Amino acid sequence: MSELIRSLQRDLNDFGEDLHLVGAERLAGRHPGEHRDNFAAGVMAEPATAEAAAAVVRWCVENDVPVVPQGGRTGLVGGGASRPGELILSTARLNRIEAIDPLARTATVGAGVTLQALQEATAAGGLTPGIDLAARGSATIGGMIATNAGGILAFRNGVMRHQVLGIEAVMPDGSLFSDLTRVVKVSAGPDIKQLLIGSEGAYGFVTRAVLKLESLNPMRATALVGVPDAAAALALVAHFRARPALQLEGAELMWHRYFRDSAEERGFDLGWLEDGAPAVLLVEVSAAGEAEARAALEEGLAGLWEEYGLTGGIVAASLDQARRFWALREESDFIYRRQPSAPSFDVSVPPGALDAYVAGLRERLDAVRAGFDAYVYGHIADGNLHISAIGQGVTDAALKEAIEDAVYTGVGERGGSFSAEHGVGMEKRRAYLTYGNPARRAAAQAIKAALDPKNLFNPGKVPFRAI
Ligand code: LAC
Ligand code: ZN
Repeated sequence: MSELIRSLQRDLNDFGEDLHLVGAERLAGRHPGEHRDNFAAGVMAEPATAEAAAAVVRWCVENDVPVVPQGGRTGLVGGGASRPGELILSTARLNRIEAIDPLARTATVGAGVTLQALQEATAAGGLTPGIDLAARGSATIGGMIATNAGGILAFRNGVMRHQVLGIEAVMPDGSLFSDLTRVVKVSAGPDIKQLLIGSEGAYGFVTRAVLKLESLNPMRATALVGVPDAAAALALVAHFRARPALQLEGAELMWHRYFRDSAEERGFDLGWLEDGAPAVLLVEVSAAGEAEARAALEEGLAGLWEEYGLTGGIVAASLDQARRFWALREESDFIYRRQPSAPSFDVSVPPGALDAYVAGLRERLDAVRAGFDAYVYGHIADGNLHISAIGQGVTDAALKEAIEDAVYTGVGERGGSFSAEHGVGMEKRRAYLTYGNPARRAAAQAIKAALDPKNLFNPGKVPFRAI
């Protein structure tokens, strides 16, 4: 047993069952999640109350032990990665759905509640957290707050920031910050809890949150449609968004290589699509009933077919088939089976700039080395693209920066972001320093110094200091 655990056990013994301490032996039996170094610290504290979490943080401040907050460990940029000598502070046992208020349409939850658990709990009353993403089964509300998660409904409801009404958190000095506001309107001076959203654990450890809920309409229809480009996909999106009796529930675009390889991987038949179709749009709508949704979807696609040069379409005949459509888009792991350690990115540009950006991206990658290309797919209606570079030698360390530059060129200039929904973590530190906004960086660093003068909260992730 490590010295760190022994000291914690000795000093925080009073918390009993409210504080579990987990050592390297037990961590070895658990899944570390998406980053190989998530458990590298070898010591984890699992508080069951905010008070126990605050006591752990105070102990860490007194003893100069860095704190690495962790939620579902589904992060894709290493925001939860840890090192020996640090302490992992987990939200796993802060996992109670405390209240759902159907009248106010709010939920009060522990930070360790998974998105799916909250989706299931709210669905019974016809409500949803209004935010959805592929990692729903493991991503936690606290982690989604820390990264300001986005996902598939951001075009309609916004991102995590827009769903959060209240936050309780342990600040880096060990004090408990409690702002569990349950109303939308608060115009009462600077809204400090906003600082915690998207801070990736650098400004505090979220223990509890109040979220806004939205109406859930399960009466859906789902289609895959071949489109010549993003502009055509966006025209379909605009059409379905403008129909008063319809609600757009999803608009995900997959460029050629992505849908071709994803379909091959899953044995998904593409016989309905013209050969060489440039891109496939997954579109889902809801309406008063399933038949209405389906009729509106079919009618809309037929009406726009010629004008937008659609190259094939298939409407799901069952919920099971709709799930298979979504799996084609959401289960992107095949990329790493085909291109191990593929350099991967998560950028956004205004939707109208997508085609020009993607064309330029392919040219720039090919200029880095002839034959380089990318899997490109993403949340088309808000301009968020996921990109994985592929090709012989694409993981060569010597090409790392050139590939990053090929991806990031033109993103900020167009008004987009080098990280749309996955955060900065370890992986996007150079991008933060090279492509981030200098004024924003300076203010973020000043706030960090004020809140966490010892730089103990998730050090080395968002690079407040030069790396
Ligand atoms: C997705 C994750 C990677 O959209 O953001 O699948
Ligand atoms: Zn995404």
